[in-house]
Amino acid sequence: MGPRLLRMASCVIAALVPALSAAQDRTPAPELRETATALFGTLRAPTPAEAEAPMARLGQALFWDIRLSADGHTACGSCHVPGAWGADRRAFSRDARGRSTSRHSPTVLNSMAAPAGLRWLADRPSGAAQAENSITGSMGFARAEDILPVLRRHGYEPAFRAAFPNEANPLTPANYGRALQAYQATLRTPSAFDRWLAGEDSAMTERQQRGLQRFLETGCAACHNGPLLGGAMMQRFGVAEDYAPHTGSARPDIGLAAVTKNDEDRWIFRVAPLRNVARTAPYFHDGAVADLRQATRIMARVQLGRELEEAVVDDLLAFMEALTGDLPANYAPPAGIPFEVPAGAAP
Ligand code: HEC
Ligand code: HEC
Repeated sequence: MGPRLLRMASCVIAALVPALSAAQDRTPAPELRETATALFGTLRAPTPAEAEAPMARLGQALFWDIRLSADGHTACGSCHVPGAWGADRRAFSRDARGRSTSRHSPTVLNSMAAPAGLRWLADRPSGAAQAENSITGSMGFARAEDILPVLRRHGYEPAFRAAFPNEANPLTPANYGRALQAYQATLRTPSAFDRWLAGEDSAMTERQQRGLQRFLETGCAACHNGPLLGGAMMQRFGVAEDYAPHTGSARPDIGLAAVTKNDEDRWIFRVAPLRNVARTAPYFHDGAVADLRQATRIMARVQLGRELEEAVVDDLLAFMEALTGDLPANYAPPAGIPFEVPAGAAP
């Protein structure tokens, strides 16, 4: 278990939220930018040099190449597709063994910046560890070493040598993981929200700014904070009420307790990052909810015990829309690398 687990009682959450007036249609408070900068902090766009570095270029090829899997048809990009902004439109994805994943594929965009560890349970400490584990997971190989002859056969040895020039034998599962981490670290998508935080007043509409204020005063930001608006802590999904009756989840997932076997960890999940959330439906760890409006209502109800007025939900949705960035230019297969989008994975 890599990450530190941070659990807050709901009283502490309430104390973190700045006291703002509840008037319906006021313009946002002037101190909003200051409060938001302290709670979130901006996301920086990658430099062209970062994306062009040999390790990132190698990682880009590895990410999209369907030949590098046990069935010859599965790449990282098969479950993290461009049309779904690095996530998957299917509630569950299919791996190289033809099996369904046990949880929804979250977006890889911005994911290397998640402070508390990766995946729904934050049980991978780094992108390198996550990718290396995928060799025997999603990619379907029996042992991690089994990917090495496949890489050699498809001509990857020179690219590994260029990416790891000081190593006598650079073609290893660990370096496969490092290259994928380097590539994914370039997949950052600053958005209108960051431009507004940096001082560009017109970057967010008045409704989006009001939505940000709602996001703070409703209590969302107590859990969804940091530059990704999430990914920084573990929390119970279902603080005020059980989630399953609201999400309609067929097989409720007990979260972290499934790994730790500790009863206290029941229903604990990583707080989902909300960057690009308007493009990454369906929602939650089991993709049970197709619509962001409904997901927002469920969050308010089960996390905060609140029924939101329609106008408040509209404002929150407008704010979340301001978290949509441009798809990075390098979020695509490089020339000559075979890739196919699985049926149903993109809208
Ligand atoms: C068969 C579908 C599938 C394939 C192929 C796949 N993934 Fe994933 N990926 C998932 C699922 C499902 C999760 C969430 C698993 C969980 O939390 O239990 C995930 C999680 C992740 C995360 C964590 C994101 C976050 O915000 O926590 C990263 C990063 C990632 N995958 C990168 C990769 C890379 C790199 C590859 C290729 C080596 C890959 N994936 C291949 C389905 C897939
Ligand atoms: C007590 C902590 C907490 C609070 C408060 C909270 N959330 Fe969440 N949120 C979470 C957790 C944990 C998840 C992941 C749930 C799961 O396992 O699917 C999540 C998931 C989400 C998702 C789904 C994201 C995805 O990619 O699937 C959205 C959207 C969301 N929250 C929005 C909000 C909004 C809007 C508010 C305020 C009305 C809010 N949240 C309040 C903890 C919280």
